[in-house]
Amino acid sequence: MMLAILAAAALTAFNEGWEVRRGDAASWTRVAVPHDAAFDVGYARDEDPDQGFVPVPVATYRKTFAKPAGRGRFSVRFDGVYMDSSVTLNGRPVGGRRNGYLPFEVPLEGLGETNVLEVRCDARTPNARWYQGCGIQRDVWLVRRDGWTLEPEAVAVTTELLPDGSARVRVTADGARVIKPANGELIVREPKLWTPEAPNLRWLDVMAENARGERDTVRIRYGIRTVEFTKDRGLLLNGRPYRIKGLCRHETFGALGGAFNLAATKRELAMCKEMGVNAIRTAHNPFSPQFYDLCDEMGFLVKDEAFDEWRLPKTANGYSRFFDACWTNDLRTFVRRDRNHPCVILWSVGNEIRDHWKGNGGGELTRAMVDVVHALDRSRPVTAGLNHPDVSYTNGVLHALDVVGLNYNADWYAKLKGEKPVFGSETAPSLADRDVYLFEERDGRMTPIQATNHLECAYSPKAFTWAAPAEVALKAQRDSPWSAGEFAWCTYDYLGEPNHTGYRDKRDYWPARSSYWGLCDLAGLPKDRFHLYRSQWSDRPVAHLMPDWTNPGCEGKVFPVWCYTNGEEAELFLNGVSQGVRRFAGTDDLHLAWDVAYEPGTLEVRAKMRDGTVVTDRRVTAGPVVRYAVTPDFASDGLHFFRIDAVDDRGNRVLSCEDEVSVSVADGTLLALDNGSPRDHTPFGCARRHLFRGSLVAVVKASSQEVRPSISVGKRSVHGGVLLDRGDGQDARRPREARSRHISSPCSL
Ligand code: GAL
Repeated sequence: MMLAILAAAALTAFNEGWEVRRGDAASWTRVAVPHDAAFDVGYARDEDPDQGFVPVPVATYRKTFAKPAGRGRFSVRFDGVYMDSSVTLNGRPVGGRRNGYLPFEVPLEGLGETNVLEVRCDARTPNARWYQGCGIQRDVWLVRRDGWTLEPEAVAVTTELLPDGSARVRVTADGARVIKPANGELIVREPKLWTPEAPNLRWLDVMAENARGERDTVRIRYGIRTVEFTKDRGLLLNGRPYRIKGLCRHETFGALGGAFNLAATKRELAMCKEMGVNAIRTAHNPFSPQFYDLCDEMGFLVKDEAFDEWRLPKTANGYSRFFDACWTNDLRTFVRRDRNHPCVILWSVGNEIRDHWKGNGGGELTRAMVDVVHALDRSRPVTAGLNHPDVSYTNGVLHALDVVGLNYNADWYAKLKGEKPVFGSETAPSLADRDVYLFEERDGRMTPIQATNHLECAYSPKAFTWAAPAEVALKAQRDSPWSAGEFAWCTYDYLGEPNHTGYRDKRDYWPARSSYWGLCDLAGLPKDRFHLYRSQWSDRPVAHLMPDWTNPGCEGKVFPVWCYTNGEEAELFLNGVSQGVRRFAGTDDLHLAWDVAYEPGTLEVRAKMRDGTVVTDRRVTAGPVVRYAVTPDFASDGLHFFRIDAVDDRGNRVLSCEDEVSVSVADGTLLALDNGSPRDHTPFGCARRHLFRGSLVAVVKASSQEVRPSISVGKRSVHGGVLLDRGDGQDARRPREARSRHISSPCSL
């Protein structure tokens, strides 16, 4: 996929034929970009916990290339190099960019027959609060220009709905006069509007003329839609109230690293669609250009975020070092890059910015930023994610924003009602592992506990001091119709920020090296909480039961059984015997619950939808593992994701199975295995790995676009156990310890 803009400047992919050198290493390794030089190099306890204990090197890339043929001026465009890059051409400095998430170009002047472009990336840690890696992480293009060119970023297309049902499209070009459409204006009769549900896109040929009378044309893709944030009715999309059901996301790719990956992005967005999500927040930086193209096409609203740090640092080597010198230019580049995407509905100038509540000058800076954005785009409001709205209310920050984004702080919806447009820019983090159910027995009752041994429980019983639990946050939105909606934290777990229960010193997060906050785990497999949101946000019928129903030794003990559903009521059966009907009427919970004395067999819920249809879900006590079932999970652009599950002779998943398996591939190459465990230190690129809670994901690159690769899975050894804290301090299942300072196990079969 190319950018959704076609310019007179010709772009050719420049991704192949690079070499990389980590630190001062003598040798160079041949790679294609996008690439992450820090990825899968290991974990070390003395590295930054927030970045997943990954040692991030300074990386240098080089590419030797022949002088391009043809007339015109050449340059190289980098969509994003993380971070603080400096580029030389044949040993001469030609440019770079401190900001690791924004594009820049370097001119190719004085080319010889053979040339060397060298790119140094300095992502010395700690530079972010999550793992971002290091390197040329986005596409690179060779750009050829002949004569004056109308740059796509110079063009701004905005749309307006007229009372007669038609739409007015206005086009401007920075520093040039628009010739086509005439007078920079176009009326579209009976327009098909862009919405997340019907993402209708259009193309427009724009011609403009510069001061010297030179003309050029560029094709811009856009959508007709209007956005208005109101104080009393939330968001109006195309004039109609529209609720944001959004998720925050980091643009990193788990087992595939920090470099942009198109197929993995599509998989994550498809998961969001299935959940009923209609909006994504780019936490906390500009994403790759292709992400916005996908959101335009698939139908997601985007809250486009610029910064996680301003002048006051959050990390020792983060963006704050460059903030004063760079923010104006960075913000301009950001808005100009993204302003023609219909998906973008909000500009966020920052997340939990320290300057918003500490020190002086936050209000003034916020106003200055809002002005910079407005000068380039008046069609969308400016917001920020405020985590101290009380301070920001009095120091000028909150009032400088068009729309107030609340990170947590749910009591502020009522306080701001009728005063400012408001929404939840970040809500409901949870600590949970996929399919992990932790109980403590109290008088025969199995009571969920939050954590043990770096594992967090799917029931998430823990209350945070700063954030409401997911159900409370969802109800806060339900009960605040003037709020535009929310962005919950977050889509997938990610490397870094491995905060979990009971650990005060970040170093003690070890061996956990990835976060527990996602609705899906690091491998993209859904956690139970995924189904809570699906039951609240999706239009399709949902019934999801928890916990697992294989609990040997627990006969007669009473388990809490929950069902997430969008039905009105549900009946639960254990081995065909009704455990009663539960209804939402009369409860304020967003799940239905039963207390059920454990006996092996089949637990089945039958949820009745409003239209009378019945949806069922089952948990069946599993027997011994007889095979590893392989299910295609997602495929796109030659990348295939397979799910591997340990199953018994009837096909029931066996969650306690943590066998180490080896995976071999036909018609493709195995890129990565991941089981979603936050503390597994096996390299992702290794062809063997333990299952975690009975499952694993394999990522395979097809040997060609025409073939469909297949995988086979073989057993290496057996581990196992039941995930129960028996209350005697002796967990049945001990975590596998990391075995050494760097990558624990050599990866050879
Ligand atoms: C928020 C922050 C996010 C992430 C999250 C974890 O306060 O904005 O970046 O750290 O907490 O719960």
